[in-house]
Amino acid sequence: MIPQAAPPLRIARFRREVEAAIASVLGGDAYILGSAVASFEAAFARHCGGRHGVGVASGTDALTLCLRALGIGPGDEVILPSLTFAGSAQAILQCGAEPRFVEVDARTRCIDPAAVADAVNGRSAALLPVHLFGHPCDMPALMAIADRHHLAVIEDCAQSHGATLDGRRLGGFGHAAAYSFYPTKNLGCIGDGGAVVTDDAGLADRLRSLRNYGFAPGERVSRTLGFNARLDEIQAAILLALLPHLEAGNAERRAIASRYRAALGSCPALGLPPEADGCVYHQFALTHPDRDGLMRHLAAAGIGSAVHYAPGLHRHPAFVEGAARPLPVTDALSRTLLSLPIQPEVAREGVDRIVAAVSSFHAARPR
Ligand SMILES: Cc1ncc(COP(=O)(O)O)c(C=O)c1O
Repeated sequence: MIPQAAPPLRIARFRREVEAAIASVLGGDAYILGSAVASFEAAFARHCGGRHGVGVASGTDALTLCLRALGIGPGDEVILPSLTFAGSAQAILQCGAEPRFVEVDARTRCIDPAAVADAVNGRSAALLPVHLFGHPCDMPALMAIADRHHLAVIEDCAQSHGATLDGRRLGGFGHAAAYSFYPTKNLGCIGDGGAVVTDDAGLADRLRSLRNYGFAPGERVSRTLGFNARLDEIQAAILLALLPHLEAGNAERRAIASRYRAALGSCPALGLPPEADGCVYHQFALTHPDRDGLMRHLAAAGIGSAVHYAPGLHRHPAFVEGAARPLPVTDALSRTLLSLPIQPEVAREGVDRIVAAVSSFHAARPR
């Protein structure tokens, strides 16, 4: 069986470094907000080309704390794509604000700047572009709209560690970038973890306070409503050990994507992901009109695949109020998208088998 993703295989590959990281925490002198978190925050911010890194407990917390720290709350709307993971919208509701779902571009599967421009209204306070599957959103167009309407921009980089657009690192266009280190991510730990990277020192200070009960540095007095949303030392130490391997892992993902592209490009029923130099292929997601049939065929051939995402968030009971308009592009994608294995440790040796299985389904289908 080739699983769609298998985080333990990545940990096995770097086992010695991970075990040394864990041992360093066990023998250290602080288990919460100690030197591993501080070192990882500095290293990760540097890697992202940002000034400040703030480790938090998850990607959802990274988004929630950013929105709170930027003063977004009841009465505000936050514009985001409907085709994304639920955490993006949960964070908005956590702040008492309302998600306003808009369409994605059918080709890039990322938020459509024209739809954003259409959705802006007097209550719009922030924009939350998601670099879905590691593909860059059209940040210049989005920043122009945000600047015109004074919207805060939080880039959801949960799927785009290390990705670039025109040579510029994603996460550096908006006011802040939110990362998840959920185990399947391009940089993932062995539990939950997240971080915010920003150039804004004041925002970073507010985030450090919000993640720790609203305390000011060196005090144990709550200055504001805060959270217990800290990145823990063990996860930080592991992330610090894995960070130097991130770029090589992204290069392997690009190489696997090229092999898929070369082998599957001639199947007319398949919609391949768009090409972009800076994409880091968190997923290799293609469309097929009989997505469910293809998934069953792959499963019978011992190949895992996954759906990202169905239904669109505008159809989740928790979020339906944010569905002001029909979103036919999102609905069509959520019926047809499937993600092939792309994690290097899983897919590297299996590409030929996966390609053969996809192609044989295609050949077997009646025309
Ligand atoms: C696009 C996106 N946003 C937000 C999140 C939330 O991150 P977490 O699961 O770490 O809370 C995830 C991933 O899980 C994600 O893929």
